[in-house]
Amino acid sequence: MIQPSGPAVRRVAITSVGAFLPDRVIPNAHFEKIVDTSDRWIVERTGIHERRAVEPGTGCSHLASRAARDAIERRGITADEVDLIVVATVTPDMSFPATACLVQDDIGAGRAWGFDLSAACSGFTFALGAATQFVASGGADKALVIGADVMTSITDYEDRTTCILFGDAAGAVLLEPAEEDEGILGFNNKVDGSGRDLLYMRSGGSLRPPSHETVDRREHFVRQEGRKVFRFAVRSSAQAAEELLDEAGLTRDDVDFLVCHQANARIINAIAKRLRLPPEQVVKTVHKYGNTTAASIPTALRDALDRGAVKSGDLLLLSSVGAGLTIGTALVRWGGERVAPGLRS
Ligand code: COA
Repeated sequence: MIQPSGPAVRRVAITSVGAFLPDRVIPNAHFEKIVDTSDRWIVERTGIHERRAVEPGTGCSHLASRAARDAIERRGITADEVDLIVVATVTPDMSFPATACLVQDDIGAGRAWGFDLSAACSGFTFALGAATQFVASGGADKALVIGADVMTSITDYEDRTTCILFGDAAGAVLLEPAEEDEGILGFNNKVDGSGRDLLYMRSGGSLRPPSHETVDRREHFVRQEGRKVFRFAVRSSAQAAEELLDEAGLTRDDVDFLVCHQANARIINAIAKRLRLPPEQVVKTVHKYGNTTAASIPTALRDALDRGAVKSGDLLLLSSVGAGLTIGTALVRWGGERVAPGLRS
């Protein structure tokens, strides 16, 4: 859906990007010791060399708050100025209260309301879509959109097909009314619940409350049909991107950077190939962070900004696929970060 326009609707821009990556690095060699795998297999099949992990017992809100503070400090505002906090996660500290409430308290965002959103690896793109509507309508002037996950808390370290994939991280962006020639141009966010059995955590919800039996069956861990998810991700991401570009009156030639969900380097390469985007226009962090679920797009964006890759005026294509199945796509005309005066170089 292209962002609606009209007298009561404002265009919305990402004005700041924050990130938090835990210090603890888990190299592929670690998995050679605990499951039947090899560094070579992991690198060849996923492109992942290492990932980050929190110390056990660290909740998602801790990472989310750190990323949120980073975004706020870079922008040079106080937390009091934030109106809305949307946290995308599948690994909240607990079922309730929502992680957004914990973040609101942790960062001291005294005026903000907020909520959590569950769309797995598309969580950030969906949360961006939701929060954009509030800023566009005038319902919020400053909205924090946070993608945060502690995937190590739901990973089965006896399952070689999943344990090598995931890492922990958080990313946060600030949304504000856009200036001329910048802003979020539109979204193509979709769900296809018929794929619900391809990627899931079986127990712990109302259908199968946690019990000794569910834990014995290891149903509190993430499971997936990797090959099917792989094929779906490549096909649906490229198709959703083409649809959105078309609706916006743009073509793939207009895209400057593809900022994909970082699940697997082969998936990212295949999407880029379908969109005929060369490697230098594809942002990649999967080699060093692994799959960080809702955190992967904002942390990849932070990485690209830190490298000086993304410039003002660039057209960014954000693209994700996740459990649900969910497909998230957004087009952003990058206007540059509104950096705090003290941080200007
Ligand atoms: N080390 C060594 N061998 C492994 C392994 C590991 N860590 N994990 C799986 N294998 C084996 C499999 O058992 C299989 O062996 P078999 O042929 O004897 O049955 C073989 O490697 C190939 O498995 P397959 O699942 O076909 O590999 P793949 O090339 O599809 O790679 C994934 C597996 C999970 C890396 C890949 O499918 C993937 O990335 N899928 C999408 C995941 C994703 O994006 N998830 C999150 C969505 S946002």
